[in-house]
Amino acid sequence: MLLIHTVAELRDRLAAKSSVVFVPTMGNLHEGHIALARQAREYGDCVVVSIFVNPLQFGPSEDFDRYPRTLEADCEKLRGLADVVFAPDVAAMYPESQTLFVEPPPIANELCGAARPGHFRGMATVVLKLFNIVQPQTAIFGKKDYQQLHIIRLMVKQFNLPIRIVGGETVRAVDGLALSSRNQYLDAAQRAEAPQLRFELQKIRVSLLAGSREFSAMQTLAADTLKARGWVVDYISIRERKTLVPAAFGVADWVVVAAARLGSTRLLDNIEVCDIE
Ligand code: PAF
Repeated sequence: MLLIHTVAELRDRLAAKSSVVFVPTMGNLHEGHIALARQAREYGDCVVVSIFVNPLQFGPSEDFDRYPRTLEADCEKLRGLADVVFAPDVAAMYPESQTLFVEPPPIANELCGAARPGHFRGMATVVLKLFNIVQPQTAIFGKKDYQQLHIIRLMVKQFNLPIRIVGGETVRAVDGLALSSRNQYLDAAQRAEAPQLRFELQKIRVSLLAGSREFSAMQTLAADTLKARGWVVDYISIRERKTLVPAAFGVADWVVVAAARLGSTRLLDNIEVCDIE
């Protein structure tokens, strides 16, 4: 496994590769990332994992500075799974001040985008840069960040990028909590409470599959339940799975997406509800 820090060396090393599979990450890898790297092997011969904490996608009061940077441990975890780890520093990714951006569609201002203005613009911009640097045939993103995956799919489609985008299933702790680098910010009591987010989404799923179409009432009930248990809820929303517009009556093909905070830690989760196929 090669550890590469510069764009020039990466380009050089990948020049002769015909099927590159790319897993972009911000490091501090957990089993969720490892599952994506393992899945990557099914799609090509050369698996490239990037590790870059992208300043462009963090707001001024967010956790960019305290985001855990654990490159050595990450490389250990990727040994035998990745062929190349690309870990540029900020100067390598942004040798000059970035003045051109990917302007994401209006959906980027809803859900996570409502609480994190500019986040998806910064995310899409760095992902486009990484795609141009790595030039993969396939790229894999976790479904836990459902809105991110949706925006990347749109970007690839609308900019005609010749890249297949694959969504990797969310990996969970035994109690159902979606794995996330931010889980380590939770204290013991918050960690014990955290799976409740998943339970509320499961309850909505059961109601939807049982035929309820009281979308607003289901969302409010779940949010109120979490609030009563000490959460600050950013959103719990039932959306059309393919477009992320608010759910409407019709075919059951939805995703219930949620973001809520325990103390200062913001947790994301979602559950697909597809009664078709
Ligand atoms: O999901 C992430 O870790 C980041 O948003 C990504 C896709 C690596 C871009 O910085």
